[in-house]
Amino acid sequence: MPDGSQGHVALESLVKRFGPVNAVDRVTLEVGAGEFLALLGPSGSGKTTILMAIAGFEYPDEGRILIGGEDVTWAPPNRRNLGMVFQRYTLFPHMTVLENIAFPLKMRGVGRAEREQRARAALDTVRLGGMGERRPAQLSGGQQQRVAIARAIIYQPRVLLMDEPLSALDKNLREEMQLEIKHLQQRIGITVVFVTHDQTEALTMADRVAVLDRGCLQQVGAPRDLYEAPETVFVAGFIGETNFYEGRLDGFARAGEPVSVVLDGGGRMTATAAQSLAAGSRIKVALRPERLRVLPAGEGLGARVTEAIYAGNATTLMLEGEGGRRLRARIPAGAGLHEPRPGERVRLSWQPTDARAFAA
Ligand SMILES: Nc1ncnc2c1ncn2[C@@H]1O[C@H](COP(=O)(O)OP(=O)(O)OP(=O)(O)O)[C@@H](O)[C@H]1O
Ligand SMILES: [Mg+2]
Repeated sequence: MPDGSQGHVALESLVKRFGPVNAVDRVTLEVGAGEFLALLGPSGSGKTTILMAIAGFEYPDEGRILIGGEDVTWAPPNRRNLGMVFQRYTLFPHMTVLENIAFPLKMRGVGRAEREQRARAALDTVRLGGMGERRPAQLSGGQQQRVAIARAIIYQPRVLLMDEPLSALDKNLREEMQLEIKHLQQRIGITVVFVTHDQTEALTMADRVAVLDRGCLQQVGAPRDLYEAPETVFVAGFIGETNFYEGRLDGFARAGEPVSVVLDGGGRMTATAAQSLAAGSRIKVALRPERLRVLPAGEGLGARVTEAIYAGNATTLMLEGEGGRRLRARIPAGAGLHEPRPGERVRLSWQPTDARAFAA
C-alpha cells in the first residue's frame, strides 16, 4: 500500500500547446494522497493531455508536476511509479490472464513464484479469482477491464491514472464497474485520477471533480458543490440540466447576496449572485428543472405547459414563459404534486438560493 503523501499529485500552472492550440492552459490542481479525482470536460478539453503529462508520455511547455512532493516534470514514465488503464483493453491476447497481470513484475525482474502469488492476489482483488488461466478473448469487456486494472496495480503504484476505462462497456455493466472501481480504490487507498466526459460517472465515482473547458480549469469541487453551487456559467450548463434566464441586474451585488433581475421578455426574478456583479450588468440566471415549483396559475412569473413527458420516476414539463422563453420543470412522482396538462397555464416559484446569477 502506498504510504502517506507518496500519492499526492500537484500540477502547477501546467501549459501544453499543440501548434496554435492551448490543449492545457495554466492548470493548477492538487490531488490528495488516496483521493479519487475525476477530470471532466467535453471532447477536446485537455483531459487526456493532462493525464499524459502526469504519466510522462507528454512533456509540458510550461509549469511543473510533482508526485509525492518530488518534481517529476521531466522524469521518464518508468521513473514515476504510476499505474495506467486506458479506454481500449490493452491486454496481450496471446498471454493468459495471470501472465498479463504478472507482466509488469516480470519486466521488473521479480521471480516466478512471487510473480504468480502476487498476480493471484491482484486477480482476487478485482474479483476474478479462478479465471487466471483464460485468455483475454475468453472474458467479457468488463472482465477484461478488471484484468487491466489488476495489472495496473500489481506493483503497488502510488497513483492510478485511468482514461475513459469504462466507455466501451454497455450502460448496466458500466454502472456496476463504476461502483466496483470506487470500492476497490477505497479498499487499497490508492490515489486515482480518472478521465471521463460523462458527468454522471464523474459525480458517482469521484471525491472531487475538476471541470475543464478548452484547456482551462473551470472549477474543482465535491460533486454536490459542483451541482448545487457552480461557479461559472459553463459548469452550470455542463453539469446536470439547467434553465438559463437572461436579463439585466437591478442594482449591483457581491457573491452570495440576493439580487433582482429584470428578465428579457418581461418579468422579474429573485436570485443569488454566484459572483460579484456590476450595477446594471447583463445576467444569466441558472435554475435546475427540479428546483422549479409548478403551481396553479396566479400572481408572479407564469408559463404555459407545451408538453408533459412522463418517465416513471418523474414528469418533465416543457414550458413556454414570457417572451417565448423555453423552460423545463421536473415534478417527482409520488409526492402528490400538481401535474398540469399540456395547454394549462401555471405559476412558477423557486427558492432564491436555487437561482444562481452569473455575469453573461
Ligand atoms: N498529439 C497531438 N497533436 C496535436 N493536437 C493534439 C494532440 N493531442 C491533443 N491535441 C489537441 O489538444 C486538445 C486537447 O486534446 P485531449 O486529447 O487532451 O482532449 P480530451 O479532453 O481528452 O478529449 P476527448 O474527450 O475527446 O478524449 C484538442 O484540441 C486536441 O485536438
Ligand atoms: Mg481524451
